[in-house]
Amino acid sequence: MHPTNNSLDMKVIQLTAFGDTHHLSAAEFPIPQLRLGEVLVQLKAISINPIDVKTRAGKGISALIKDRLPAILGWDFSGIITAVAPDVKTFHPGDEVFAFISFPEPGQTYAEYVAAPADQITLKPANISHHQAAAATLAAMTAWQALTRYTEIKAGDRVLIHAAAGGVGHYALQMAKYLGAHVTGTSSKENETLLRDLGADEYIDYKTQAFETAIAPVDYILDTIGGDYIDRSVKILKPGGTIVSIPSGLNESVTEKAAAIGAKGHTMKAQPNGKDMNTIAYFLEKGIVHSHVSKTFAFSEMAQAHKLIESGHTVGKITLTI
Ligand SMILES: NC(=O)c1ccc[n+]([C@@H]2O[C@H](COP(=O)([O-])OP(=O)(O)OC[C@H]3O[C@@H](n4cnc5c(N)ncnc54)[C@H](OP(=O)(O)O)[C@@H]3O)[C@@H](O)[C@H]2O)c1
Repeated sequence: MHPTNNSLDMKVIQLTAFGDTHHLSAAEFPIPQLRLGEVLVQLKAISINPIDVKTRAGKGISALIKDRLPAILGWDFSGIITAVAPDVKTFHPGDEVFAFISFPEPGQTYAEYVAAPADQITLKPANISHHQAAAATLAAMTAWQALTRYTEIKAGDRVLIHAAAGGVGHYALQMAKYLGAHVTGTSSKENETLLRDLGADEYIDYKTQAFETAIAPVDYILDTIGGDYIDRSVKILKPGGTIVSIPSGLNESVTEKAAAIGAKGHTMKAQPNGKDMNTIAYFLEKGIVHSHVSKTFAFSEMAQAHKLIESGHTVGKITLTI
């Protein structure tokens, strides 16, 4: 099943080998054939994440795809449905949709078209741009799943969010506020205004303040850094509190380190899920959560976009126009 245009090929950015950004290049691939349960989406905007960059460099999910190069990376998109598989009744051609798809398998969103599982996508609110929607995907899903599957945040609970200016962190800050928490966010001084605008009750400049002595003990911590941040973070966790740590490869000891002070520690992996996407769409539509898109690139500028993420100092999200 193909879209109603004359070309059966589409432009993609392919990864031909693991390593530097010069292994990312423009190519033409066949437009995906739909399988049952899928919709074909013509992409308008995509966002990228540290996992894209780690995978390109030979970490991340590279082991999963090493025998399948060249590969198309990317998990996040917003676009317009051009065709649906015969069994898909919930979406129709012309619907504007966005999602985080297929993870940890390649979502293949560095492309003009993607075949997306219908049970992982949601309708884009009409008052939200494709870029705002494409941003609120893997990162927003991670934040929401971290806060709702591993914590029981209630009004007044104290929450610390590391890297609250980053992709995951800036959504987590807003979502923790929505859940009624008293939220502290960390970032460098340049991003203090952003954090306060997003609702942070307390702010820590991690470059000039030791966060573990800067605030009173907290009930919950979202750790986006790993390593010794876990050792330092558990020092300000209340007994019985919870730390959720997301950087795979840097957080495997979090459970035992938390247990040592009578707290709970979890690692997690974000999972594509249409129900959670619906919640995020609702948050965007109602203005409960805002995507801070700090930079937008052309599709042909994928290498520059990867380098910005690789710097470790992306503010909010970056997106690309397809
Ligand atoms: N397990 C999962 O399912 C999952 C899902 C998503 C992401 N992750 C992982 O989680 C991590 C964060 O992802 P992300 O998308 O949020 O990354 P990101 O957007 O690239 O994070 C960049 C932000 O980190 C901040 N930052 C850097 N070092 C910091 C520090 N020491 N203290 C406080 N802030 C610091 C920077 O702020 P300044 O510029 O102000 O320094 C910048 O705003 C990555 O390792 C990613 O791979 C895991």
